[in-house]
Amino acid sequence: MSTNYIQLNTGAHMPLIGLGTWKSRRDSVGLAVEYSLTEAGYRHIDCAAIYGNEKEIGEAFNNVFKNGKVGREDVFITSKLWNTQHEPNRVLSACKQTLSDLQLDYLDLYLMHWGVAVPHNLGSEPVDDNGLIISAPVSIQQTWQAMEELVGEGLVRAIGVANFTTMMLYDLLSYARIKPAVNQIELHPYNQQKGLISFCQSKNVAVTAYSPLGSPGNHPNEKHLLDDIVFQEFAQKYHKTPAQIALRWGMQRNTIIIPKSTHPERIKENISVFDFELSSQEIETISKLDKRHRYVDPSEWWGIPYFE
Ligand code: A2P
Repeated sequence: MSTNYIQLNTGAHMPLIGLGTWKSRRDSVGLAVEYSLTEAGYRHIDCAAIYGNEKEIGEAFNNVFKNGKVGREDVFITSKLWNTQHEPNRVLSACKQTLSDLQLDYLDLYLMHWGVAVPHNLGSEPVDDNGLIISAPVSIQQTWQAMEELVGEGLVRAIGVANFTTMMLYDLLSYARIKPAVNQIELHPYNQQKGLISFCQSKNVAVTAYSPLGSPGNHPNEKHLLDDIVFQEFAQKYHKTPAQIALRWGMQRNTIIIPKSTHPERIKENISVFDFELSSQEIETISKLDKRHRYVDPSEWWGIPYFE
């Protein structure tokens, strides 16, 4: 890897490794963010309104930026618009709320978190008596156009999407005045989505891998990918950990990776992946592990086969 960033279609540089904050508890996320920025060398933090911890992250940003150890301009910060805020007249206020919580003047990247709109007044993930998501009559196009306005207002430097399938992107690209800079999707050795990655990259849409470690800890009863013998073997060979092998593999696919941790030693471990390189044969071996296994599948909680 000759660089530690990907150049977006806006020209901005997005660091290849960011700290993920999904499921980071409010009482530990602040220290994790501060440690990442001031001790571990991270320059990219991935946030979202729905994670419920942006206020605590904002305190951490304030602490770091005010003492000048790291400048705001040196850090790439992403947040995401939740499904309840898709109505065009809510997009601006949702973005302003996130900026206020994060104590920032601008975001480097603002993503539409999912391609579904739900009413704003029924809770964050409303479902009906049959367990089906309650939708709101707002198209992705309407929401996207409101997000484009945020760029014009200087509140965000780039906009993008998350959890978009090929056909959702295909449609979006037909009308987008501002092309999405990024599609953030679930990617790890057990869910490789090669076709979607190559479609995005062919359209100059960068790809961010969420759950790049396969979210160990969130699925304690399943055999985990990091326990796969392949990762153990490569880890031994390179004097690295299985997690570092999985992350390095993600980077060598030209995807941005955002491993989440609130433990300093793991935060450090997860960014210490620039001093070795997997061979093309090793990449190929990991490619064969694909099971199309999703750890994040809304059919379980919204009752719709979102990815089918
Ligand atoms: P913790 O936050 O307690 O360190 P993903 O980013 O794929 O969703 O994975 C996040 C999960 O993986 C969290 O449960 C996190 O736990 C754990 N984790 C993060 N880094 C490592 C690592 N280097 N080795 C093992 N588990 C890790």
